[in-house]
Amino acid sequence: MSPSKTPAPRRGRSFDSMNTSYEEKQLNNEMSKSTFIKIEEKTDVTQTVPDQPCATVVLSLKNDTGGLFKALKLFQEKYVNLVHIESRKLNRHRSEVEIFLDCSSNHEQLDDFIQLLQRHLNSGIVGTAYNSCRQEEAMDNIPWFPKKISDLDKCANRVLMYGSDLDADHPGFKDNVYRRRRKEFSDLALNYKHGDPIPRVEFTEEEVHTWAVVFRELNKLYSSHACREYLTNLPLLKEHCGYREDNVPQLDDVSRFLKERTGFSIRPVAGYLSPRDFLAGLAFRVFHCTQYIRHGSAPLYTPEPDTCHELLGHVPLLAEPSFAQFSQEMGLASLGASEDSIQKLATCYFFTVEFGLCKQDGQLRAYGAGLLSSASELRHALSGNCRILPFDPNITCKQECNITTFQDVYFVSESFEEAKAKMREFAKTIKRPFTVRYNPYTQSVDVLRDTASIHRVLEELTHELDVVGDALSRIDKQLGV
Ligand SMILES: [Fe+2]
Repeated sequence: MSPSKTPAPRRGRSFDSMNTSYEEKQLNNEMSKSTFIKIEEKTDVTQTVPDQPCATVVLSLKNDTGGLFKALKLFQEKYVNLVHIESRKLNRHRSEVEIFLDCSSNHEQLDDFIQLLQRHLNSGIVGTAYNSCRQEEAMDNIPWFPKKISDLDKCANRVLMYGSDLDADHPGFKDNVYRRRRKEFSDLALNYKHGDPIPRVEFTEEEVHTWAVVFRELNKLYSSHACREYLTNLPLLKEHCGYREDNVPQLDDVSRFLKERTGFSIRPVAGYLSPRDFLAGLAFRVFHCTQYIRHGSAPLYTPEPDTCHELLGHVPLLAEPSFAQFSQEMGLASLGASEDSIQKLATCYFFTVEFGLCKQDGQLRAYGAGLLSSASELRHALSGNCRILPFDPNITCKQECNITTFQDVYFVSESFEEAKAKMREFAKTIKRPFTVRYNPYTQSVDVLRDTASIHRVLEELTHELDVVGDALSRIDKQLGV
């Protein structure tokens, strides 16, 4: 599967999977904050708790007995809600007291109020700190994104292209039998929910024949054209998942296999998703896969991803830990990113995961699924007659993607590790008021945007480092170091 390279339609209220005012607001970014109704999941980071303090003001009172009274009076006069007050004596100057005042208000009002405090008090304002409100406002402009793996149920059915509708130039457009069959696959995907087993499909004789043609042609090329990792994993898929010329592997078997290898799982999808929705799946190590087979009249050509493309192009690489990590990081970088950043990430995805090349033992090899599932483009890309540039996300993200013709240029990486390092640097340039971290225990993303959430991660990392340190010291003892 690949994200659609066509512009995504504007997300509107018509998506029937969205059924709460909160979700609508997050998807559309069009309701004002005052219309927000808190209805579920009080811990959701994107929700506002109206009475929480927005800012902490710290006053330093020096022998100024009336200072605190003056300050409190100003709070009252300006209708700034004071929610917590605390004092602390400073050791260095016995007569000096610091007062912590937590207040809630909109921050425009708070900015004016703090200036007023500064003008009216002899006491000094040691500091001010905005807490959650400013961040809440920044989060209001962030597009909705799934926070936990089951949230993919809300966006995996927003199919932009194909599904059961085919374009007039699709090889199966005039074939009513094929179109009915596509509708069956589309319904299977649309009814799927996270945690369900993927329905097993009995493929028709014609479908198995089409698969066999593709399988046979590509298997002639893999030993000389596919990257090392692909060649390592393909035999495992033949052994464990029924990859054979006379058998179309079942997505459920493949998903179970991947889960054990890299934690990736497969989710059936009816057709093209938007880049945002597709990339979001990768953040949770979920790969959206089509289950239908291309039209039998043109087994070596398909204008859209089909299960031959998924199973022969993508799956062998998704079984590779380093590649799985690379894919997930691209997904994590996409969560909550702007539309412009999503397009750049999707283009980088296109020229790596779909059409990427790498150098191994001094030779060019393919790791991109679009190449490994298309005999003609695989030959073309490694023919020596193509324009090939080093993968650089800043350059690659501007390259035009060709959907129905060969690419004008291919990008080469030394290794997945190198591509991952470059994508990590590129991801840091994406403007978001937070960072996300995947939590494999809960299959959710932690949104790191305040000190409390970062402290929690730090505690976990400290514990993990302790475990590593303990392991090292045990080895040192055994070795007598
Ligand atoms: Fe793909």
